[in-house]
Amino acid sequence: MTTDGIILVTGGSRGIGAATAIMLAERGYRVVVTDIKPERPAEAAASVIVWPDSFDVAREDNVSAGVEAIEKTHGPIIGLVNAAGVFGKMHSLDRIRMENWDREVNIDLRGTFLVARAVGVRMAARKHGAIVNVASVAGMTSGPIHAYTAAKAGVIQLTLSMAGEWGRAGVRVNAVSPGFTRTVALQAGIDSGAMSEERLTRNAAMGRLVQPNEVAEAIVWLLSPASSAVTGINIPVDAGFLAGSTWDSYWGLPDSDGKIHGKT
Ligand SMILES: NC(=O)c1ccc[n+]([C@@H]2O[C@H](COP(=O)([O-])OP(=O)(O)OC[C@H]3O[C@@H](n4cnc5c(N)ncnc54)[C@H](O)[C@@H]3O)[C@@H](O)[C@H]2O)c1
Repeated sequence: MTTDGIILVTGGSRGIGAATAIMLAERGYRVVVTDIKPERPAEAAASVIVWPDSFDVAREDNVSAGVEAIEKTHGPIIGLVNAAGVFGKMHSLDRIRMENWDREVNIDLRGTFLVARAVGVRMAARKHGAIVNVASVAGMTSGPIHAYTAAKAGVIQLTLSMAGEWGRAGVRVNAVSPGFTRTVALQAGIDSGAMSEERLTRNAAMGRLVQPNEVAEAIVWLLSPASSAVTGINIPVDAGFLAGSTWDSYWGLPDSDGKIHGKT
């Protein structure tokens, strides 16, 4: 990627988007963050530009007008990070309220599509660009967050089809799938007792949460020339959640000394 343009990070005021914006700026990229609630990410260098208008990824008019105005003000978007998202609410199938279903699918899937399309079409016309969609290991597994898992599986699939459509136009499209990641929001959930760290880490091979900057490292790599032949892939950054989550059916994951507690 040349440095002749900007990297746009949606949902960049907090969490994984903020960590990515900060890392990109530290590595010399020009970064513009957008958010539905625009705020300067904590600890961000002054060089990170915060787009002052609310940018709701689920609203088509917001996205098309916002992308146009951002390019007019700050120059061509050469890299896009689709980090805006909301978590899934846990419900059994019979208790899912359709307004929750619509909210999660609209922001996580429709929003990712709207921004990737608006930016990708411009990149394809310029024959240059890289897009990274933030999906989730939830999109590759099963859980009582039915709209969220479907939306994230959709993001992984969309990544593949966009990579196919724009490959010859010089636009790479990839995804990262974080496991449970210690953002401020997740930490607040643990601190309040609404979430259990033991439960969140029990099935991760590495026995821990992911840090936001570990997800950012993968995103930055996918945006950089170091991944110039990579398109259409999905990189889990999950501390081994996918690798470890089936072990409980056997004798469970060994502890750090190799001891197997569930062995009979
Ligand atoms: N933290 C995790 O454990 C985890 C795990 C897997 C995937 N993810 C995914 O990573 C992405 C970032 O999540 P996070 O953990 O950093 O969450 P977060 O809540 O810390 O940050 C999300 C940001 O997106 C913004 N946002 C929400 N709705 C928006 C909208 N309609 N338009 C624009 N911005 C909007 C929020 O204001 C916030 O700043 C999400 O797509 C999430 O699903 C997170």
